[in-house]
Order: sequence, then structure tokens, then C-alpha cells
Amino acid sequence: MNNKSIGVFDSGLGGLTAVKQIMNELPNENIIYFGDTGRVPYGTRSRETILKYTRGDIRFLQTFDVKVIVIACGTASSAALPMIKNEFDIPIVGVIDAAVYAAVRATKNKKIGVIGTSGTIKSGEYEKQIKEYDRDMKVYSKACPMFVPLVENGYFDSPVTKLIVEEYLEDIRNEGVDTLILGCTHYPLLEKVIQEYMGNNVVLINSGAEVAKYLKKKLDDEMSHSAVIDENQYRYYVSDDVSSFEELGGIFLEREINGQVNKIDIEKY
Ligand code: DGL
Repeated sequence: MNNKSIGVFDSGLGGLTAVKQIMNELPNENIIYFGDTGRVPYGTRSRETILKYTRGDIRFLQTFDVKVIVIACGTASSAALPMIKNEFDIPIVGVIDAAVYAAVRATKNKKIGVIGTSGTIKSGEYEKQIKEYDRDMKVYSKACPMFVPLVENGYFDSPVTKLIVEEYLEDIRNEGVDTLILGCTHYPLLEKVIQEYMGNNVVLINSGAEVAKYLKKKLDDEMSHSAVIDENQYRYYVSDDVSSFEELGGIFLEREINGQVNKIDIEKY
């Protein structure tokens, strides 16, 4: 048993797609979430900046003495985690491995689409890992930089969202992929519109949800589940306005989070 908390972070709301699934899969666990809302988006930044932000986010979560850190951000998982994982004496889990594992099992025609931020697509990490499973897989990647601001502003299902989805996904749809990795953890919040556009025969892989399943397996294997449910089981921190995070985060998680969100100065870490 290990009653320490699980630390999870993302640039904003997107990582809540992992949190929601961790709450379902691991209902006894305590979660500390950090959304770097003051510096979102990460996906359009240089690798140097993404590395700096990722290190700071990990250092902040380490102040809670957590047992594992989940990088619920495709950008930090692909553009930073491979370089920094040995710098910290704590297990750190990113979203790429888990999403790739699910995608290579889901595809039947070996055509996989990958959408993510510019940083993620530029890193080539998804494509690299898919090809490591099977060199015959065809991978069609596309950066969708406007998806993150749509999500952060609550445009989950608007006519504007539908137009932008069509604009970004047309080529991938025309290639006939049967599996599409939502390689940025913000994108599952647009899942309904994306699924409608791609059609029901295309399997969408939610990278946030997949990392939660991976985490469950890891805690099972290491027998390090929590046995005690804390009074403050879920705590949320942001680096900018608390109220919009409470509102949109609460809608997405389908639970009241008002009063549980605190603002911190991430530049100190
Ligand atoms: N949700 C993040 C990701 O998975 C970051 C999006 C962003 O900040 O650009 O890539």
C-alpha cells in the first residue's frame, strides 16, 4: 500500500481527460492536479520552453510528496519527457506509450491518424513509436493548433468547432484511417464533433484515458494503491484565473470543483 497522492499536470484543462478516467479506474486514489493556465498553450512553444515548463511543473508537484507523476499532456510527453525522465527520482508517466499501445491494437487496416499540437507532431514521437511496433503501419499526422484555444474557451460543440474540425481532418479522413489518436489531451473534449466528422467506423484513441488505464496497471503491478481516502481527495491548482477553470473543469468532470481550486505562482518552481 502507498497512500501518497498521484500528481497530474497539463498546460490547462486537457489533463482532466486523464483525471476523469483515473477517478473511475482508481477511486481510492488522491489526486493533485496542476493546470498551467497562465502559460497555455504549450504546443506552439519551442522545445527549450517546453522543457523549462515541464521541469517547473514536476518540481511543483514534488512539493506534495507524490508517489508518481502523470504528464497528462501530449506536448510535454513527446517534446520533453524523453530528455528529462532521468533527472527526477520519482516515476513519471507520459501519454504517448499508452496511446500508441491502444492504437496499434485497435487498427485493422494498419492506417493510423495522429493529431496533436505542433510541438507533438514536430517531435515525431508518435510515429516513431507506432513504427517500432510494426514497420508496415502507415501513419498520417496533422497538427491542429486551433483546437486547444477552442477547448480552453469552452467551444466544445459549436458551429465554429465543426468548421475547424473539417478543415484539419479532411486529409486524414480521405486517407481512410480506421484509428485516430487524439494525441493532445485537450482533444477528447471535442470528441463528439471529431467522431461525427470521421464517422463511427473510425476508433478514436483518447490519450488521457489510456494513460489512466496504464497507471492502474502500474499501481496493480507494484501493489502501491492507496488504502485511505483523504478528505481532500482531489485538489486542483492553476497558474491563472481560478473561476473559469472551476466552471469549465466542473462541467467536464461532471462534479462540483468550486472551492477546490487554488492559484499558484509557477514561476517560483
Ligand atoms: N493538452 C496538451 C497536449 O496534450 C497541451 C496543449 C497545449 O497547451 O498546447 O498536448
